[in-house]
Amino acid sequence: MNSVEVEETHAVNHPFLRDRVEKGKRPGTREFVALIDGVEAGLLIFEHFPNNSLGFVYEIYVLEKFRAMGVGNLLLSRAETIALDSGCKTLRLTARSLDREFIDDESLMSWYGRKGFIRDASDPGGMQKNLASEFTIGGQLG
Ligand SMILES: CC(C)(COP(=O)(O)OP(=O)(O)OC[C@H]1O[C@@H](n2cnc3c(N)ncnc32)[C@H](O)[C@@H]1OP(=O)(O)O)[C@@H](O)C(=O)NCCC(=O)NCCS
Repeated sequence: MNSVEVEETHAVNHPFLRDRVEKGKRPGTREFVALIDGVEAGLLIFEHFPNNSLGFVYEIYVLEKFRAMGVGNLLLSRAETIALDSGCKTLRLTARSLDREFIDDESLMSWYGRKGFIRDASDPGGMQKNLASEFTIGGQLG
């Protein structure tokens, strides 16, 4: 399993994922597709806001037949890695289910919570992870 950056939207083969990339991409966003044995399984839409040392995950979407196989984890890890490499101190997202028959907002927030995200009391659905502490821990251990 791996993920690759989308250089051109038309390079995404899966029609549903391509449509989500087309609708979700903005100037400044970067898009990534997760592959299982070369088959497209999910996508990540990410943006780096250098002025605020902030990374933002707009969307993580895993195709239904590939869920609970670790693809979501892979894409979230990819977002964290890019954010860290870009010098972000915080990674933020809005946990709002895009498939309510499969997962509700509360379960989604719990899922992000298990990945170290904490809820933002002032923003319903808003969650963030402090990446600066990961630098410190890594630095101390290293
Ligand atoms: C929410 C979502 C992104 C999660 O993606 P996913 O690929 O199913 O997530 P993962 O497989 O990485 O993790 C889900 C659980 O599956 C289990 N799991 C992980 N790897 C597994 C494996 N190899 N085999 C079996 N189960 C596994 C784990 O219990 C995991 O939960 P945990 O990481 O808290 O322990 C996915 O359900 C989705 O796309 N939903 C619809 C779109 C949506 O609402 N996106 C959120 C927008 S903010």
